[in-house]
Amino acid sequence: MVKIMLLYCVLFLFSAASCQASSVVYNVVKLGAKPDGKTDSTKAFHKAWALACSSRWPAMVYVPRGMFLIKPAVFGGPCKNKILFSIDGTIVAPSNYWVFGNSGFWILFYKVTGVAVYGGTVDANGASFWACRNAGKNCPPGARTMSFVASSNIMVSRLRSINSQMFHISIDQCHNITLEDMKISAPSWSPNTDGIHIQSSTGISITNSVIKSGDDCISIGPGSKNLLIHGIACGPGHGISIGSLALHKKEDGVENVRVSSVVFKGTQNGVRIKSWGRPSTGYVRNIVFQNIIMEYASNPIIIDQNYCPSAKDCLKHSSGVKISGVTYKNIRGTSATQVAMNFACSSSNPCKGLKLEDIKLTYYNRSSASAMSSCKNASGSNKGVIIPPSCL
Ligand SMILES: *[C@@H]1O[C@H](CO)[C@@H](O)[C@H](O)[C@H]1NC(C)=O
Ligand SMILES: *[C@@H]1O[C@H](CO)[C@@H](O)[C@H](O)[C@H]1NC(C)=O
Ligand SMILES: *[C@@H]1O[C@H](CO)[C@@H](O)[C@H](O)[C@H]1NC(C)=O
Repeated sequence: MVKIMLLYCVLFLFSAASCQASSVVYNVVKLGAKPDGKTDSTKAFHKAWALACSSRWPAMVYVPRGMFLIKPAVFGGPCKNKILFSIDGTIVAPSNYWVFGNSGFWILFYKVTGVAVYGGTVDANGASFWACRNAGKNCPPGARTMSFVASSNIMVSRLRSINSQMFHISIDQCHNITLEDMKISAPSWSPNTDGIHIQSSTGISITNSVIKSGDDCISIGPGSKNLLIHGIACGPGHGISIGSLALHKKEDGVENVRVSSVVFKGTQNGVRIKSWGRPSTGYVRNIVFQNIIMEYASNPIIIDQNYCPSAKDCLKHSSGVKISGVTYKNIRGTSATQVAMNFACSSSNPCKGLKLEDIKLTYYNRSSASAMSSCKNASGSNKGVIIPPSCL
């Protein structure tokens, strides 16, 4: 406990005085939670949160070792002071996906400011839900494991999220969130289990994390600004994606995104920008992808503005999303397909200001042919050595 309080003080940069007020700890077991993985402990978690949230002093919700079953839970604010949600054990979801597959969320932090989530494992028990989806049966839409909505000044460290039904971590309408030392995993065949999804949010940083998933490791939706993504191991998964954009006609843009020091292992894509072929007010600008290693990624560098699954209102249109100022710098490794760089931009809004610098991508199957680049409606500049030869 002393160690936890110390960390608490460090995390929040508390003064010595407020660190003394360390008695404000709400242990879920003392409030009735059972560490057996079977008894519904939702009420105890809600009780601990309510007490911490109304505390005049910085408070801690403490989840000790053991397995705690909880149903969908909302940890809402505004709260009176800062809260540390410290987890030593594992929080598990009911195995029957109908219990929470319709709620959209499992663990939801709503309208909170100054919350730190530290340690522990969250296991959404998604296997039966994926089986339902993959068999094309009648399934509920599925829940995101941990969501932050309309919240700010949040820090999540050392959290492990496994087996989510849908996205693992979801950030929507938030400001100033740091995720660090995360371990996220779901099998490659689990549908839509994106690692971290961000939309309508600013000042989000994701560092030093390992993400394995059946969809995007990180997906960046409309209205995402000032993002820093650094030190990520991605794969299996669909890569790091800006998009899908242009789902809606009136849509906010994505800008100031910096992705660096990432390794993609056996992923479907590496760094991707993707939009539907539909009219849109959206844009993508001032993006940097830098210091990246591809190990057998299928589409290492790709812009696809003609996304049109099931041909819905997008076949004969071009994308309204305006892409400009995208830098690809020091990207190396192997491509699992021959086209290692593919810029398929909108015919009505060509991509502008793409910058390539020091790229070396080779086709994994050296015995057949060398790697290629492909450009449609794309312009920009080249610097340094570019392999395969640039089409810009
Ligand atoms: C961002 O959030 C952190 C807590 O995670 C806090 O320490 C910091 O002061 C916040 N920054 C701003 C500019 O509010
Ligand atoms: C986009 O590319 C197509 C095919 O190369 C070309 O016909 C068309 O004029 C281009 N559109 C613009 C706006 O440059
Ligand atoms: C590599 O390419 C050759 C020639 O196209 C093909 O016969 C072979 O099966 C390919 N190997 C792999 C591992 O894809």
